[in-house]
Amino acid sequence: MSDHWLPLHVADCDPDPFVQFRTWFDEAEPEMNEREAVALVTATLDGHPSARMVLLRHVGNDSFGWFTNYESRKGHDLEANHHAALLWYCESLGRQIRIEGTVAKMSDAQSDAYFSSRARGHQIGAHASHQSEPLVSRQEIEDRVRELEARFEGVEVPRPEYWGGYLLTPTFFEFWQHREDRLHDRVFYTSDHHAWSRERHSP
Ligand SMILES: Cc1cc2nc3c(=O)[nH]c(=O)nc-3n(C[C@H](O)[C@H](O)[C@H](O)COP(=O)(O)O)c2cc1C
Repeated sequence: MSDHWLPLHVADCDPDPFVQFRTWFDEAEPEMNEREAVALVTATLDGHPSARMVLLRHVGNDSFGWFTNYESRKGHDLEANHHAALLWYCESLGRQIRIEGTVAKMSDAQSDAYFSSRARGHQIGAHASHQSEPLVSRQEIEDRVRELEARFEGVEVPRPEYWGGYLLTPTFFEFWQHREDRLHDRVFYTSDHHAWSRERHSP
């Protein structure tokens, strides 16, 4: 950890939180091995939260995206409750970003395009894994992979209908910068009918 942390002033933050996100994300590139890893928090309709890591595969001008199994635990949560949060942390720069918003499935065309770009082993894996379901043994999934390799030999592996992307459209961002003596800088962005406002909050 560095002794000197870059200050984060509201006036220096870009009015557009997506631009501010990209600035921090770009600055983290040389610092991190897996900069795209974020915690995704979902909740059931009756408020039971759960968190897991996913890889950010889309950083757009109005949304963030990742890919997964729609029938997984997170998939079931998002089907019932489209509110979710993402959390990103870069230890060496002392930075945390919180993002909250609503989630929708990507279009089939977007999911197809990403699926077809994946390594064949990953494509077969998506067919083989009933993500989040009980598995009797490792052998069971390895046998399934062998069967699928035989079934798809010589042909393109199609995207399973239960596998694809999600897009989170944010309504809230927090940019948190570590500072000395726990007097951290925190800048919140909130959206009101697509116009973003930003203000400093206490550490
Ligand atoms: C660094 C990291 C990245 C991951 N990326 C993904 C991902 O992009 N998509 C995914 O479905 N699971 C990913 N996983 C696995 C998930 O954390 C999780 O185990 C899985 O999606 C099942 O979660 P669920 O049962 O809560 O739905 C990742 C795990 C780690 C540690």
